[in-house]
Amino acid sequence: MCISTKRERTVKILVIGDIHGESELIRAAAAVCRERGIRKIVQLGDYNYGCAIGFHKLSERYLAEDGVHMTVVPGNHENWNILDELYGYDHLTSEWPAREPVEIAPHISICHKFGIWPIAGKRCAFIGGGVSIDRFRRRQGWDWWPQESWNHTESERGLAIMESEEPVQVVFSHECLPEHPFKWGPARMLNDPACDSHAELMGEIRDRLKPSIWMHGHMHGFENYHTSGNIPVVSLGCYGDDFMAILDMETLEVSAPVAVPEFFTPDLRK
Ligand SMILES: [Fe+2]
Repeated sequence: MCISTKRERTVKILVIGDIHGESELIRAAAAVCRERGIRKIVQLGDYNYGCAIGFHKLSERYLAEDGVHMTVVPGNHENWNILDELYGYDHLTSEWPAREPVEIAPHISICHKFGIWPIAGKRCAFIGGGVSIDRFRRRQGWDWWPQESWNHTESERGLAIMESEEPVQVVFSHECLPEHPFKWGPARMLNDPACDSHAELMGEIRDRLKPSIWMHGHMHGFENYHTSGNIPVVSLGCYGDDFMAILDMETLEVSAPVAVPEFFTPDLRK
């Protein structure tokens, strides 16, 4: 048993879906890491960065207790004004933002819209951003930020950079791919062209980065599907027992669902 725990520390990571400011989900994820000896979490966006200070402090506390580090791939529900400021980036005038994740607490770092760096020796791409289907009901600067998604210039610059990149093994994103079956999320059902074209952009990113596996959040439901090139895709859910998966960084195999700790109540679904 001890040998297995040591091995998980080196090659397995916990990947978790949308959090939406719910610290109990971080507590549950940290407990799973403790149980299995995992030291690294990748969170797939809609963390609520810059939206609730109390939640962020609690997240750090839960992760610190178990010595786990979490990298957040930002989604559409982050405070993008604060995130851009963190990167010294203006989405209309700046060149591409710094590509490394920035530390926002001792055990939490956050990416911007694109970065590539290794985890356990595998090249991983981190693709932030998404489109809020309900953006017309939200208030700009309060609970919605227009830079949540890739604008035209960012798409052109980002794709040009990726053109010269070597293939990656894993992509972690918030946004889904165009082949998502949309059984859970509302995007395709409401036929929102902005959602569709942002998912199409992910398809262009896929064609350039040629990952072996892609994992994303945003759609609030667990799905396994394939994208062009027969690349496996895992969509993680949120609130219930479908928001966690374990990714073996050696074999790139995904184990899901992950049993939630006893204290965790799946009734957190909103
Ligand atoms: Fe989202």
